[in-house]
Order: sequence, then structure tokens, then C-alpha cells
Amino acid sequence: MTQPACIDDFEHLAKARLPKAAWDYYASGANDMETLQDNCEAFRRYRVRPRVLRDVSRIDTASDFLGFPASCPIGIAPSAMQCMAHPDGERATSQAVAQFQSCMILSTYSTTPLEEVVKPTNASYWFQLYLYQNRPVSADLIRRAERAGYRALVLTVDTPQVGRRLPDARNVFKLPKPWRLANFPKEFQILTASERAAAGRVNQGEMDELTNESLGNRSDTTLTWVECIPWLRQVTSLPIILKGILTQEDALLAVKHGCDGIIVSNHGGRQLDSVSASIDALPEVVAAVKGRLEVYVDGGIRRGSDVFKALALGAKGVFIGRPALWGLGYNGQQGVEEVLKILHDELRLTMALAGCRSIAEINPGCLCKSKFVPAKL
Ligand SMILES: Cc1cc2nc3c(=O)[nH]c(=O)nc-3n(C[C@H](O)[C@H](O)[C@H](O)COP(=O)(O)O)c2cc1C
Repeated sequence: MTQPACIDDFEHLAKARLPKAAWDYYASGANDMETLQDNCEAFRRYRVRPRVLRDVSRIDTASDFLGFPASCPIGIAPSAMQCMAHPDGERATSQAVAQFQSCMILSTYSTTPLEEVVKPTNASYWFQLYLYQNRPVSADLIRRAERAGYRALVLTVDTPQVGRRLPDARNVFKLPKPWRLANFPKEFQILTASERAAAGRVNQGEMDELTNESLGNRSDTTLTWVECIPWLRQVTSLPIILKGILTQEDALLAVKHGCDGIIVSNHGGRQLDSVSASIDALPEVVAAVKGRLEVYVDGGIRRGSDVFKALALGAKGVFIGRPALWGLGYNGQQGVEEVLKILHDELRLTMALAGCRSIAEINPGCLCKSKFVPAKL
């Protein structure tokens, strides 16, 4: 292949470049990976209803993330440990997002300190947060994110425990040296299952694997609506976005508790396998919140037409996880830029061919549902 022409091409190119354990960590989903697969396939069950003869000589994809302007409604989802994909890691992703004037959500588990990721540009940076049993650890991360210039906090709520990703279990995955979880001091570093077993913390067979399971910063499994959102409100005045909502019931609770946004997400199929594809969960969430907070979606977006479909179903914008990692693995900052550019170009083309000149013109009437799922070429 001389030049990647679509997102799938980046997947193949990155796979050829990355060590197997890193590739498996990025690629895998939970258990049988049904949700991971469905995240992509579900988009193909929606069809576009194009309108014609509408002067599409000018296509405007300008958008915003919580009011911060963006060149288009495509942002980068938080994904852990980007330095495994490329030594420039999160810095490269950040540079690409800055070029693109978009939005990047930095993972708590970044391999670059959060202070070194934010660029003084028009791009928006949001910080993804897990709440720990040890609350001062979380409060400290929030204060650092505020000081560094992050514009929102994204609380991931679908991870009270970590889903079982079998390839990581088989590989006995461990973040390779010299990388470390750069937002934590050394004593909080994540242990592998075998290290934990050696420390007598879990038995070797209990491969409930990496993130969240460290000595000092165990995720708080007792979190509830009534406790954690007020706690966050007390600690910060940043907008709060909940990531990992899939039902109208929880969407309504997010409204009730005064959250500023929701990301409809199943964590890229990495948590509970067999939950709905994100795009299938989006309509009920949009219908429930009735515009009272911003609704975003991630999971399975591989085409500009997928972005179009998500917007038509009511998303304010979308986030991409693995495609950015593939771009990074293929060619660092430039690779991420190319991934964003391809998705943007495809979105513009879809808009032109569907007769939509601006993001505001994309609406539910632009889509219909099809039972026919074409075989992939
Ligand atoms: C390798 C990897 C690491 C991830 N790490 C995090 C994380 O640290 N925090 C989080 O909230 N979501 C994390 N996610 C989930 C993504 O934010 C996002 O929900 C998902 O990747 C979207 O699906 P997609 O990969 O199909 O675009 C991770 C996803 C992947 C693939």
C-alpha cells in the first residue's frame, strides 16, 4: 500500500508496525467482542436519504464542543497509553488535534503528564477521570487539569470494574518500559496480575487485568449518582460530562444531577460485552434529554458517513478511539492528522451528496433504517 486511503487502511498499517501485545491491547474488546463488532456493523444498518439540487458548492462543517469552536464535530476519545503506539504518544495526538482545531479527551492513564499535552491553541482539551477510593488522588488530578487549561471533566462511568479482554489476559499484558502512567507517582503504578499475585493481592488466575487495579488508586466501586456528582461539583467548576451512558434512564439522571454532557459509549466494546452498539443506544438518549445537555457518541466510527449518521440521530459530535491510535501507530502526529483529515473529507463528501450544506442541516430525516446489512467488500 503506497498511501492509506481510508481508516481501515490505517488499521492494517498500524497492525504491521506495532508489537503484538500493544496491538492486542488497542484492538481487543471484552470477551467474545460482540459489542466491538456491532459498534461498526450497526452503522451499516442505517441508510442515508439524499436530497438533490441544493447547491452544495460550499460545505461548512464548523461545529463546537460545549461551545468551544471546532473545524468539525470529530474529536479524539480518551485512550490509555498512547506512547506504546508511537514514542511521541499523547503529544503527537495533541499536535494533530491542534492543527485540526478539534477536541481531545486525555485519558487519566496517559503515558505523558497531563500538563505536557495541552497546547495553547483553539483546540479544546478535556480531561477524562476515574474516581478512586482514595479521593484526594482524584481531587489532585482535577486541580492539575484545571491549572493546565483543560476545559471539561469527562467522568467515565462504565468502569466500576474492568471488562475481561482475553488477548490481554493471554499476553499477561503489562505496559512496557520505559513507559509509565505519567499522571501518577511511581508508587501508584499499575501492577500486572503476576506482580499482584506475588504481592498476595489477587490470585494469579484472576486476570481482571490492568487499569484501575493499582495499589493506591483503586476505582471506587461504591459510586452512586447522589454521592459522586455532588462531590465533583464541590471540587470543580469545570463542566462535567459523563462517558459511558447507554440508556434513557441514566440519561435522565444525568439531566437531573445537572451534568453538562453525555457521551453515549460502551467503551469501544471493552467493558460489558453484548450491550448495544453505541449508535443504537443514541436515539433513546437523545429523545430522553430533549436538548437539556449535549449528547456525544463514540464507538465504531470508521467513516465520515458514520459521523453523518451519528449527527443525524442527534449527536452534537463524535469521538474516535482506535482510528486515532492506528494513525499514531502508523505515523505519529502526521498519521493522526491524516486520520482526522480522511474522516473530515468523507464527512464533507457525504454532506454534499446528501444535500446538507451545514452541520445544522443534518437531521433525522436524512436517514432510514435498513434490515439489509451488506457484506463488507
Ligand atoms: C486502547 C484503548 C484504551 C482506552 N482507554 C480509555 C480510558 O483510559 N478511559 C476511557 O474513558 N476510555 C478509554 N477507552 C475507550 C475510548 O475512550 C472509546 O470509548 C472507544 O475507543 C470508542 O470506540 P472506537 O475505538 O471504536 O472508536 C479506550 C479505548 C481503547 C481502544
